[in-house]
Amino acid sequence: MISKQKIYSCKVCGAQYPKWLGQCAKCGSWNSVEEDIIKKGSKNDLVQSKSEVKKISEIKSLENERIKFSDDEFNRVLGGGLVRGSVVLISGEPGIGKSTILLQNSINSPESVLYVSGEESAEQLKLRAERISENPKNCYVLTETNLELILKNINKIKPGIIVLDSVQTVQTDLFDNSPGSTTQIKECTSILIKLAKNIGLPILIVGHITKDGNIAGPKILEHMVDTVLHFEGDKQHQFRILRSKKNRFGSTNEIGIYEMDQSGLKTVANPSELFISKKQNTEPGSAIAVTLDGDRSIMIEIQALVSSAVYGTPQRISNGFNSKRLNMLLAILEKKAGFKIGVKDVFINITGGIKIEDTAIDVAVVSAILSSNINVSVTSGTCFCAEIDLSGELRSVNNIDKRISEAERLGYKKIIVSNNSKIGYTPKSIQTVKLKNLSQVVKEIFREKD
Ligand code: TYD
Ligand code: MG
Repeated sequence: MISKQKIYSCKVCGAQYPKWLGQCAKCGSWNSVEEDIIKKGSKNDLVQSKSEVKKISEIKSLENERIKFSDDEFNRVLGGGLVRGSVVLISGEPGIGKSTILLQNSINSPESVLYVSGEESAEQLKLRAERISENPKNCYVLTETNLELILKNINKIKPGIIVLDSVQTVQTDLFDNSPGSTTQIKECTSILIKLAKNIGLPILIVGHITKDGNIAGPKILEHMVDTVLHFEGDKQHQFRILRSKKNRFGSTNEIGIYEMDQSGLKTVANPSELFISKKQNTEPGSAIAVTLDGDRSIMIEIQALVSSAVYGTPQRISNGFNSKRLNMLLAILEKKAGFKIGVKDVFINITGGIKIEDTAIDVAVVSAILSSNINVSVTSGTCFCAEIDLSGELRSVNNIDKRISEAERLGYKKIIVSNNSKIGYTPKSIQTVKLKNLSQVVKEIFREKD
């Protein structure tokens, strides 16, 4: 018989109490404890437990059990394909393309997929599917938010993969809370994880994010699932990066790069060629940097514009590059290289709308600024790869060999690195120039222009 029991749970950390509290005793949040009603006795009826003791040597390896999609970037970020029985959470800003990437992989999937959507109607999904592919294969669609009904349909159709869009819309009858509440998110996910592990069914779950960029719901959600992927990019631009934040079955250094067009997301195998504009280095204020994102080396173009400040306080505006770091580099330029940039407006833009955290682009940023300031372009065919420290010295960066080989592959003739760089790679067609400090950089890049 189902009996009802009242409990109180914190919507921030999920802690449960028999009585209401103004402040959660576990996480200290105020007014976060809410009433929950548990209908006891039916949770285990949904998905049966199947635990047994086994010798580790007798357990089958999962390595050959990966499902490979036709989307190579998606496979790469998952660590070489989707592991059977794994639960993957995909988060990202609204409108970034979470539903698109999942539907795209569902309709081209090698296994049958049940795409459960609590956000769109079947007709809307059909419209989207038609935009993406001409012949959607074995993909079933279910527009449902009730977990019990979803489980019933999974039993009926027996799909090879489940997609749930999104975890914030599902609701189990075990709790009376509304969908999207901490308890609903936590309990629904734990039931789905149990199902995934029991029958080896992989589940891809979409998770919304809050305005500060965290996945909406309890933090424990990220601990519960096997893999957390984050889909990011600038909605004004077509590039998207799928990044692995946690992966129990692969490296978290992998990234997947996509381009959004009218017919869905296209994989970008050679990102460097896209991030650099055609007329590279011919205009003053442009410099090419070799950056490393995850395990991939990408060449990007940095554009700078330096102009006389019209208002009292000069403006420093940066797109895709940390503005605090920009201020620091400007202070170093002023102090160590004697450039009077304090009375100038400085604008920085990284083309393609991507954000770069890698400090290896420091020298390129400084070179672009200097180039715009004196209105002389950087020598064509030159690229940069070093960090600048507070004393104006160049510092070496990690994985320098990989970066040099990428610059060489793209036909660059000269790469500026720090004199402390330990280079193991022997380049054939690119010259590596090891420099010590900023003044040497200035001499080197504008040398042929004097
Ligand atoms: P969507 O996958 O709905 O985002 P999310 O699920 O993360 O909220 O992506 C929607 C955006 O992508 C929308 O602004 C339109 C755009 N889009 C395209 O540009 N081309 C396409 O083929 C599709 C399907 C979407
Ligand atoms: Mg969506």
